[in-house]
Amino acid sequence: MTAARPGLERSRGLFVVLGVSGSIAAYKAVELARRLTQAGATVQVVMTRSAAEFVRPLTFQALTYRPVELEMFGQLDDRAAGHVAMGQQADLIVIVPATAHVIARLAHGFADDLLATTVLAAHAPVIVCPAMETHMWANPATQANVAILRERGMRIVAPEAGELASGLVGQGRLAALERIEDAIAEAVGEARSLAGRRVVVTAGPTAEPIDPVRVISNRSSGKMGYAIASAAQAAGADVTLISGPTALAAPAGVRQVQIETASELREAVLALLPDAEAVVMAAAVADYRVAEPSDVKLKKRDARGEVTLRLTENADVLKAVMAKRRPGTFVVGFKAETGDPVAEATRMLREKGPDLVVANDVSAGVFGADTDTVTFVSVDGAEALPRLPKAEVARRLVQRIAQALGGAS
Ligand SMILES: Cc1cc2nc3c(=O)[nH]c(=O)nc-3n(C[C@H](O)[C@H](O)[C@H](O)COP(=O)(O)O)c2cc1C
Repeated sequence: MTAARPGLERSRGLFVVLGVSGSIAAYKAVELARRLTQAGATVQVVMTRSAAEFVRPLTFQALTYRPVELEMFGQLDDRAAGHVAMGQQADLIVIVPATAHVIARLAHGFADDLLATTVLAAHAPVIVCPAMETHMWANPATQANVAILRERGMRIVAPEAGELASGLVGQGRLAALERIEDAIAEAVGEARSLAGRRVVVTAGPTAEPIDPVRVISNRSSGKMGYAIASAAQAAGADVTLISGPTALAAPAGVRQVQIETASELREAVLALLPDAEAVVMAAAVADYRVAEPSDVKLKKRDARGEVTLRLTENADVLKAVMAKRRPGTFVVGFKAETGDPVAEATRMLREKGPDLVVANDVSAGVFGADTDTVTFVSVDGAEALPRLPKAEVARRLVQRIAQALGGAS
């Protein structure tokens, strides 16, 4: 057996929940538990009932020096909320092996055993390492469930092709421990990459009043901005999310400031700017507002078949941020376009001077979608990303910001 990867040392001092589910590959989690413990992590093993059919909890207990948790209701003696305590305490959750069943339950938010409630209650990064018979893995149900987990920002260490316990040869074998260890090292590194940094993210549309009941708004769902806030929070940042009206809930641990109009958004950003180390402007801010919104509801019968609204230009928020930012505050602009988004982003970079512009082609119906195709444009050039879940775009953007800001503050 090969030695643990050096990167695993990064887990020293962390509280790692090792979820083990009912696959024949459960025995491989024993070695991972040993290596993590040796690397200095506190390893709390949470097994499903099926997992305990494959490996005895005592094996894990002897190697991690901690009792293994199996039963949700057995938790009640010493902790009032034992079903969520480990999730809240976790710095990292690794599920090795993850069965088709566990993946399905996580994808659909089931809370029917201790591993499920632990993951549901956690803010920590989650690494899922599937292992199953090749047809189970290829099944569209499993693939759709895996895609859901990926979209929500969980990391999937894809199974490998090879000989399976069923005697078949195909994809489904648990990834080599070295790959799982690399994923752990990467997740832990990223989880600290913005530690202590103050990050402001704007998200969603603005709504400019016409009268007390009508607004001019746009199709932004807010998903990208919320994903960025969530990724920055997962990287250890202190995040404030300034959000227009959306149907989304703020990610756990993120402070939210609710705004409606472009001018409210501008005020909120400028108020937070003196303290911010990074500002990500993902909101779709109205360029124009109604010059004289009515205090009373406009009546159809008064309009006589035609209404003219006079619009007046809103102050440019990005320009104001660039004028007032402290030196060193990293500013990200967004450019959503239907024509040539990269050319428009390059123009924005030149004319307004943010550190990075995310160019986004909105001709392809991205509003409300869970995936996006973007290009990062900076003075160093353009980096075109493939079509990715928004959570993954957000993760990569957060890594760009972390690299630019250097180590933790
Ligand atoms: C011998 C044997 C091996 C199994 N191996 C796997 C496996 O590798 N992957 C998997 O998804 N399910 C496997 N199963 C089926 C799971 O154990 C079963 O779906 C169980 O309900 C999973 O429960 P859990 O996800 O709560 O651990 C196996 C079952 C048996 C009897």
